[in-house]
Amino acid sequence: MMPKVDVFRVVLLCAGALLLTACGSKQPAAVSFSAEIKPILEKNCLECHQSGGAGLQASGLSMESYEALMKGTRLGPVIKPGDSISSTLVLLITGVADQSIRMPHGDRQPLSPEQVELIKRWIAQGAANN
Ligand code: HEC
Repeated sequence: MMPKVDVFRVVLLCAGALLLTACGSKQPAAVSFSAEIKPILEKNCLECHQSGGAGLQASGLSMESYEALMKGTRLGPVIKPGDSISSTLVLLITGVADQSIRMPHGDRQPLSPEQVELIKRWIAQGAANN
C-alpha cells in the first residue's frame, strides 16, 4: 500500500512542476522601446511630431526622444505607464476616439493590429526606456 501512495505523490509533484513551467513560459516577453516601439513611431508619427511638423506645432507633442514622448502635449502626458487602456495615445491609435483625431492623421494608413498590440503591451509593462 505505502509504495503506491508514494508513486501517486511523485506524479502529483511532477504535474505541479510541469504546470508551473508552462505558466512561467507564457509570460509575454518584455517589449523593447528602442528595438520595437521607436521604429513604429519613427515610420508613422515622427514626420508630424518633430520640429516643424504639424502635430508638434498643434499639440506640443514631440516624438524626437523618449523623454519628449513621455512629456506629452502642452496639456500633459499622453502615456500613463502601466495603463494601456486609458492612455490618450492608445485611444488615438485604436480609433476609439473620434475619427477626426485618429492618429496617424489624415489619409495615412492606420497602425496594424500587431503594432497597436505591441504599443499597448509596452505601456502595460510600464513604458520603460528599454
Ligand atoms: C500627418 C501628420 C500627423 C501624423 C503622421 C501623426 N500625427 Fe499625431 N497629431 C497631428 C496633429 C495635427 C495633432 C494636433 C491635434 C489634432 O489636430 O488632432 C496631433 C496630435 C497628437 C496627439 C495629442 C492629442 C491630444 O490629446 O491633444 C497624440 C497623442 C498623437 N498626435 C499621436 C500620434 C501618433 C501615435 C502618431 C503615429 C501613429 C501620430 N500622432 C501621427 C498630426 C499627425
